[in-house]
Amino acid sequence: MRQMDNNVTSIRVGYQCPSNIALVKYWGKKNGGVQLPANPSISWSLGDLYASTVIELLPRNLDQAFVFTLAGEPKPSFEPKIASFLTKIASDCPWLSDYTLLIDSQNNFPHGTGIASSAAGFGALSLCLAHIEQLLLDDASLQTEVGGMNFWQRSSYLSRIGSGSACRSMFAKPAIWGETPASNGSSDLFAVEIDADVHPSLSDWKDVVLIVDDGEKSVSSTAGHALLTNHPYAEARFGQAQKNLVGIVSSMKNGDVKSFIEIVESEALQLHSMMMTSIPYYVLMRPNTLAIIEEIWRFREQSGLSICFTLDAGANVHFLYDGNIEETVMNFVNNTLLQYCKNGQYLCSDTGKRPNQTV
Ligand code: PMV
Repeated sequence: MRQMDNNVTSIRVGYQCPSNIALVKYWGKKNGGVQLPANPSISWSLGDLYASTVIELLPRNLDQAFVFTLAGEPKPSFEPKIASFLTKIASDCPWLSDYTLLIDSQNNFPHGTGIASSAAGFGALSLCLAHIEQLLLDDASLQTEVGGMNFWQRSSYLSRIGSGSACRSMFAKPAIWGETPASNGSSDLFAVEIDADVHPSLSDWKDVVLIVDDGEKSVSSTAGHALLTNHPYAEARFGQAQKNLVGIVSSMKNGDVKSFIEIVESEALQLHSMMMTSIPYYVLMRPNTLAIIEEIWRFREQSGLSICFTLDAGANVHFLYDGNIEETVMNFVNNTLLQYCKNGQYLCSDTGKRPNQTV
């Protein structure tokens, strides 16, 4: 591996990484290992909701592993998470101890919209680190395998250690994380793209994130995952997720939109029912979450359109729809759903874009 001396111009790398929305949810970790999922999950990347990160690598002078800024401004509240991530990946990336990382990051979606930014953030950070690693190996073409992984797998692997769901943000096609018979090459260590083409009826969907609550979640995802230990329904849930993963991959390959919708909505409600049945129990949905779900069901019943909802670990609703009915859907959003959104806020995104190198 190349060593930089103090006279060498620094390495600077930047990536833009999308957020993603899970269709079959990761909820619960395997015991042992670092952040391994109790069941496989699958997601669409949200290309229009992304984090942009630039890392500058300097020879380490002071005993400082990194300096973090958010859009150029110091952000001390983010530092413990980054410090903990860099400590966790230290054995995978021993070169880190020779350098100080100047990390600047920002999201293109507003802060305080209740949208999980950790997937995009850890995704972008890990892409930069995996790229720097290749440059230190003198491989500008990013072709060297590290630990038996190609560049995208390695980026996914590192990001998983920061935030499990982040590892699914590396791919344009639906990303699968966790071992499953549904798709070749699947792994608990990193995400892979679905191993076949997605049917045209499910390959151009979009997402409107309806902001019901823009505050901090009352229970973090980290705490939520932990509540699956000794949860009375955990084993049943993990088995159901396994089955749903197989079912959704088959519906995506065959274009079975009805079955796709049923699995996506059932997964969202199962995620929240696990929260409501843990000890301590909690509810992240708000009255307007349910009002939106009911409006979507009513509209689907009347129109017969290919639309559905899903939920993250929060109150906001992801309204998913086939891109070819965008105008109808946006009229419905503006005429019917806007009243349930906090300060009329919503965010729109395409699905299925991969990260971009920016520097
Ligand atoms: O990646 P984490 O630890 O923030 O967990 C994310 C969990 C969900 O967003 C609720 C589901 C998922 O698969 O993304």
